[in-house]
Amino acid sequence: GIEAKVEELLAAMTLEEKAGQLTQFFYFSEIDPDADEQAIGPLADQPAMVERELAAGRVGSLLFCTQPGEINRLQRLTIEGNRHGIPALFGFDVIHGFRTIFPVPIAVAASWDPALAEAGQAVAAREARAVGIHWAFAPMVDITRDPRWGRIIEGAGEDPVLGAAMAAAQVRGFQGGVAPGSEFGAESIIAGPKHFAGYGFALGGRDYDESDVSDAQLWNLVFPPFKAAVDAGAGNIMTAYMDLNGIPATGNDWLMTEVLRDTWGFDGFLVSDANAVRSLMTHGFASDLDEAGARGVNAGVDLEMAVFDPAYGHLTDAVARGLVTESAIDACVRRILRAKLRLGLFDSPYVDEARAAEVLNDPSHRDAARAAAVRTAVLLQNVPLNGTPLLPLSPQNKKIAVVGPLADSQRDTLGPWVFDFDLAETVTILDGLKARAGDGVTVEYAPGIRPGQRHFQSMFDMWPGNRPADPEGFDDAAELDRAAKLAAASDVAIVVLGEWQNMIGEAASRSTLDLPGRQLELLDAVAATGTPVVVLVMNGRPLDLQPVLGKAAAILDVWYPGSQGGHAVASLVFGDSSPAGRLPFTWPRTAGQIPIVYTHTISHEPENQWRRYWDIESTPLFPFGHGLSYASFSYSDVRLSAETIASGESLTASVDVTNTSSVDADEVVQLYVHQTSGTASRPVRALKGFQRVHVPAGTTVTVELPIGPDQLSYWNAAKRDWVLDTARYQVGMGGSSSVELTKSFEVR
Ligand code: IFM
Repeated sequence: GIEAKVEELLAAMTLEEKAGQLTQFFYFSEIDPDADEQAIGPLADQPAMVERELAAGRVGSLLFCTQPGEINRLQRLTIEGNRHGIPALFGFDVIHGFRTIFPVPIAVAASWDPALAEAGQAVAAREARAVGIHWAFAPMVDITRDPRWGRIIEGAGEDPVLGAAMAAAQVRGFQGGVAPGSEFGAESIIAGPKHFAGYGFALGGRDYDESDVSDAQLWNLVFPPFKAAVDAGAGNIMTAYMDLNGIPATGNDWLMTEVLRDTWGFDGFLVSDANAVRSLMTHGFASDLDEAGARGVNAGVDLEMAVFDPAYGHLTDAVARGLVTESAIDACVRRILRAKLRLGLFDSPYVDEARAAEVLNDPSHRDAARAAAVRTAVLLQNVPLNGTPLLPLSPQNKKIAVVGPLADSQRDTLGPWVFDFDLAETVTILDGLKARAGDGVTVEYAPGIRPGQRHFQSMFDMWPGNRPADPEGFDDAAELDRAAKLAAASDVAIVVLGEWQNMIGEAASRSTLDLPGRQLELLDAVAATGTPVVVLVMNGRPLDLQPVLGKAAAILDVWYPGSQGGHAVASLVFGDSSPAGRLPFTWPRTAGQIPIVYTHTISHEPENQWRRYWDIESTPLFPFGHGLSYASFSYSDVRLSAETIASGESLTASVDVTNTSSVDADEVVQLYVHQTSGTASRPVRALKGFQRVHVPAGTTVTVELPIGPDQLSYWNAAKRDWVLDTARYQVGMGGSSSVELTKSFEVR
């Protein structure tokens, strides 16, 4: 069995070999040779250094290799480089697809469809495993309430209930639902939820800045998605870079040992974020590499992710100095070996390159990505023009103008955090609209303004295909004029606005939510023609759309929709499907409102008179859970299966949802609860359940959601424990967080 083999190997290993198992190196073989000298300079010789370490048996795992041939070669070096023939674990950032790119994670959260999230990550796992990748550094399950933070795009937004559902679903998708301790299927990979914990609360939204998170917020907000991921069997967890309440998360024994392992029973392995063990010195938490390594192991970090000179390479010295014991190191090694054995790597360490090519070209993957993009879009606004909403486009629109450089940018259609993409196979919005437009309909394009990437140089620009192209000979005045003239001569103008993909993601925080570059100027020029305007937003964070609301009758948030995004967007624009996504965050009017969340507490009546800035409306631009449809729905009264329950019991909340239109569509039914009294201040409302349902035109669907201890108990900071108060609870069910709470029940 697995355990016997682990012990056999461990007994035969030297301390240096053990330290090697705990070391993971980046392997940067694919850096764009034309990339910025400064960025790649120190990395140019890095692959050769790693190969020397592999040959010396001092590496347990590699990351950032994506080619099956290269992975096989490095695997052979690893196996032949250590006396025990232990294979390497290959990890990678498989965030929203590997070759076939799915919509970005925040978009998938906007589908409010955990099954969709699961299915997408199962496809990603299949592709990644086929090339020899065993483990994804995903899902990112950090709750955040600050959209200035670039990594909001990688998570599920602001809410712990939605976040937990998405976290568990993605773990199931990557891992194929493998039972704890048992062997992985041949098409599954280890999931690595990250970043434990509190990274989404970086001060001011500045990436890597410190997080100060109260005890109540940690347990009620930050931890639930991690706990759900652990319960779903996650095989790995990644630590966070920053200080959490004054202690570096990567050296935080309480977090990793007491909470994660002892309280939740996590039995997988922990990996540091890149260089985060070494960085314990930067934090002032360790004085040298020996001490940093010892602190990492003692806190429970099993594997150190490093670019150069890992602290775990100094563990032999750290043991000699009495900073860490060999038995603490053994515990880490056991977890790494167990993961390799669960993946069957000792029996089949290599991949078949021909099969990999086949899997990467599986057309069913493209179909899944396209279907996902349809389900993630959120219709933010759809104002009637002459009595009819502008979307879906009616057949009278014979001449369609498509405007804005994002409309035809393959790289931006994919979004950030992808590396093995196929640009030639990427369907832009312009491609999709052209392919879908029927006979007699013309689709013409004018970018209007040059792409805005040059505003910002991303840390990912050194990866091939990521560096923005500089349009040569672009005549700004003439192009803007051309776009306006095209709009003037068309029946409708589709203007694609948003952020270029490298403006969001890791190390891409912003101080404002403004639409970058000259995009508003472009919108103004188009809107001034009087041609009706549809705005499609490509984004991973809320942007300041206040200036857009009055200029565009319809606004559809399509996020970064992935490889097949253009087809998906076209099917929504032309009404083959109805948008049914819902916002996974509260959409602020401006950055000055941050943080603004739907689930806040209240200390003054009337709420809006006092809890506000005097220079701006107190409401957000769009509430959490908001999203329109081409259909219309009516909700009948909410029913509760009991008026009173005893503490520990459950009841059912149900509601009838009728599609009163002639359009078949999905609706996302959301359940909100407010606790009216208790032993702590409770939020004005909180999401307690949801279900995305298909409601054919003219039919009624009944949705039932449970309310019990899982929904009602919360971490009480004064008692330092979970409590379920005897109290009256108000309940509302509807299509967004602004639903009225019309019913109530009591817990006695
Ligand atoms: O997985 C990522 C992490 O989220 C941020 N730092 C680098 C890691 C590996 O690329």
